Amino acid sequence: MNILVTGGAGYIGSHTCVALLEEGFNVIVADNLYNSKAETIDKIREITNKEVVFYNVDVTDEQALDSIFSTNDIDAVIHFAGYKAVGESVEKPLEYYYNNLVSTIVLSKVCRKHNVKKIVFSSSATVYGDNEIPFKEDMNLLPTTNPYGETKAMSERILKDLTVADSDFCVTLLRYFNPIGAHKSGLIGEAPNGIPNNLMPYVTKVAKGELEKLRIFGDDYETVDGTGVRDYIHVVDLADGHVAAIKNMKKGAHVYNLGTGKGTSVLEIVKAFEEANNIKVPYEIVERRSGDIAECYADASKAEKELNWVAKKNIVDMCKDSWNFEKNYKN
Ligand code: WQD
Repeated sequence: MNILVTGGAGYIGSHTCVALLEEGFNVIVADNLYNSKAETIDKIREITNKEVVFYNVDVTDEQALDSIFSTNDIDAVIHFAGYKAVGESVEKPLEYYYNNLVSTIVLSKVCRKHNVKKIVFSSSATVYGDNEIPFKEDMNLLPTTNPYGETKAMSERILKDLTVADSDFCVTLLRYFNPIGAHKSGLIGEAPNGIPNNLMPYVTKVAKGELEKLRIFGDDYETVDGTGVRDYIHVVDLADGHVAAIKNMKKGAHVYNLGTGKGTSVLEIVKAFEEANNIKVPYEIVERRSGDIAECYADASKAEKELNWVAKKNIVDMCKDSWNFEKNYKN
């Protein structure tokens, strides 16, 4: 099977390409390199010793996308391409709504034109809003705290409506929790441009001495130690979840949480990282970050039951693999 991976040069996309290739799928990548690098495609080839077809295109460009579908016999699509920084989305709502929604609409239109009716969409636990935990796929979604989260919720709605209009469409919506870690080779990982927004890439840069100390956003939440609790999942487990989804496509729209079902606090992550890598991570408690929720973790049972997938790696694996990538990474 030939799988088009939009955003395949990105953090989760590149790990998913490796998993797909190792499972025997052929991979075509469409990525505009807005938040990724072309050499990541070479790293995917190096890790797997397989060929990857790569197009440097913007997924909102209907003509460019149409040409890719005309040139390649695509069987299914995994759609990662999109802006994903929560804070940035608050400052740039128009750019986020345009890019994330138009890419989903254009991709779906071109899929329909070329009779490609299997779509896996990269969604996010953010769509649950500040709901009661653990988050379950069938619970009512609450408004999110940012345009990024709204673009994910709206994209899910667009794809669900597509399956109502055309019952031949198979749509799988994967809601990620907090992906961290990196491939064991250390060749691919999370390498955001500039100062990282997310916790783990910030921690690794502090450990490396590139940043002075970690600012922990609040220790007065109603949680185990007052700091924010999240469901951290190893990016390789997340990639394997996409392979399981591609292997289990069925008509209609189907939602799955990709998480571990366990919550870990910021202070627990810092402690685990220091112990796993025998390195100090200086930090300072500062005020809460606006938009943050106290606690978030998944009920991961549906993916286990229906996709025969479960996260296997633990926090120590995630901390070791994140640090291994950072040590090898040349910015
Ligand atoms: C995790 C915890 C922070 C940085 C977001 C998006 C989600 C997904 C992952 C895209 C929180 C604390 C963080 C720091 C800190 N993104 N923290 N100091 O906000 O749970 O999720 O990123 O798909 O959709 O919502 O992730 O890593 O930013 O924060 O104390 O410098 O770490 O307060 O408790 P988040 P995060």
